[in-house]
Amino acid sequence: MPVFGLYIHIPFCPQRCPYCAFTILTGHTTLYERYVEAVCTEMRTWHGRTPLQPLQTIFFGGGTPSLLAPAQIQRILDTAAATFGVTAQAEITLEANPTTADASKFAALRACGINRLSLGVQSFQDADLHTLGRWHNAAEAQAAYTAARQAGFSNVNLDVIFSIPGAPRAHWQATVATLIALAPEHISTYSLTLEEGTRFARRQHQGRLSPVSEEDDAWAYTWVMETLDSAGYEHYEVSSFARPGCRAQHNWGYWHGAEYLGVGLSAHSLLQGQRHWNLRPLPAYLHAVESGQAPWEGSEVLEPTAARHERLWLQLRTCEGSVLQPGETQRLLSAPKFQAMLEADLIHLQASCLRLTPAGFLLADAIGVEVLALLEQRG
Ligand SMILES: C[S@@+](CC[C@H](N)C(=O)[O-])C[C@H]1O[C@@H](n2cnc3c(N)ncnc32)[C@H](O)[C@@H]1O
Ligand code: SF4
Repeated sequence: MPVFGLYIHIPFCPQRCPYCAFTILTGHTTLYERYVEAVCTEMRTWHGRTPLQPLQTIFFGGGTPSLLAPAQIQRILDTAAATFGVTAQAEITLEANPTTADASKFAALRACGINRLSLGVQSFQDADLHTLGRWHNAAEAQAAYTAARQAGFSNVNLDVIFSIPGAPRAHWQATVATLIALAPEHISTYSLTLEEGTRFARRQHQGRLSPVSEEDDAWAYTWVMETLDSAGYEHYEVSSFARPGCRAQHNWGYWHGAEYLGVGLSAHSLLQGQRHWNLRPLPAYLHAVESGQAPWEGSEVLEPTAARHERLWLQLRTCEGSVLQPGETQRLLSAPKFQAMLEADLIHLQASCLRLTPAGFLLADAIGVEVLALLEQRG
């Protein structure tokens, strides 16, 4: 299990997708170089301050990290290696969008040391991609995958979205069939969330966009769980499916309480029981780093019960579940609501290990809220 990971947020995107609420910026190409320098400077300020090193995982997330030049990615990786060290087997992931990298760029990224690629394909149906406001089509998404394979990437994740308004069930089935035919090592499936502040949310408030019904959403999720299971993928976290041995180590660290440093705009860190999160506006972030200040928007020391509950919440989202402490088991077992969840086959409790069942995965958030409420109420 990884004990120390590095997240690098690259906030630049070719355009803002109408459903996306991440901290991203379009344009600003003249600031890429300055941003890369700032990220390297921020990393260097951590030299000698974290007992946990070398790095076991590195994740370039976004945004669209594939917009940067390979030489810029290389500089960030060299700085990470010089500051913290990187293990020989480290998993080094980069998120990419179709049409932001061609075969030669993928080859250059591979040569930099990126050994895992996460491609945001979203759908293999042109009509769905149009609804999602994406600028690439399904053929381009497939071509990006083929180019990544040709460049030597042997560990590839594909992100897809279901519950796209107006899309017939057959579209989701066809997208999943294409996924299986392409046989990536890892698949992430996300139910479309209508996030406040996005164009999709505005359209919903104006009555111009109707979310998919709960019944259709549950169907899509259940269907993909069953289909990917039959195709040999392990469903190891609410949204994550992997071929044997191919779980995302970086994310696995997040879900299991590993320490991580996040650098760049809005990045979060968890180090030695303290969490901090970085500024979101680009000028403020650049100004702070360039003037030698910590670019933090806030920080908090996690008190032990809060840290324990947060870990339980995250672990519960994985196939391994969470091992309860004796007091927790007793508290839950004495609660009628918990007994009802056991009887409804939403959760299993075996030898102190609390796990979601496949039916429970459908209601992971609600069950997590309920379990924590029961522990907090009676704790
Ligand atoms: C940080 S994004 C980066 C990926 C890359 N920029 C792209 O769009 O191809 C990671 C993934 O989050 C998912 N995502 C983003 N917004 C979402 C939303 N509102 N609902 C569901 N999934 C979402 C998409 O599948 C996306 O690929
Ligand atoms: S979905 Fe990806 S490409 Fe689109 S705005 Fe969000 S991070 Fe950028």
